[in-house]
Amino acid sequence: MSTPLRPMLDLARQALGNAHAPYSRFRVGACVRGASGQLYAGCNVENSSYGVTQCAEATAIGAMVAAGDREILEVLVASEGQELCAPCGRCRQQLAEFARPDVPVHLAGPEGVRRTVTLGELLPLAFGRDTLGVHRPPDDPITV
Ligand code: THU
Repeated sequence: MSTPLRPMLDLARQALGNAHAPYSRFRVGACVRGASGQLYAGCNVENSSYGVTQCAEATAIGAMVAAGDREILEVLVASEGQELCAPCGRCRQQLAEFARPDVPVHLAGPEGVRRTVTLGELLPLAFGRDTLGVHRPPDDPITV
């Protein structure tokens, strides 16, 4: 099931406008839709100690978890250049903690959403809690 993308795009772009990216000058906005239907946006937050930088997806995921949502149903990542910003490797793993492989990941440029892939396409053969033999509690909505 997919919702209209406009609200996700608007929120991601709004967050992108607040990005703290003085080092790379590469601003990113992300929006995730939680199972509750709520949308959570985030931007990249860079640091003078470059490795401490937080990606936009991580910021959005953090907002979602803090609000009590635990399952991601849809993802949108917005950037400004001609090249689309697909989630980096670390973000793919972070998304996989809360999203099933069939979750759509929309990639948007200045003109809007240009490409949609699934998380499973971005992160095949993912390492996950099943790898660890950790079983989700019965009230956890995410099942494999
Ligand atoms: N960035 C993101 O926010 N998300 C990604 O998936 C890839 C990279 C940010 C981190 C950094 O602030 C800038 O883009 C350049 O790497």
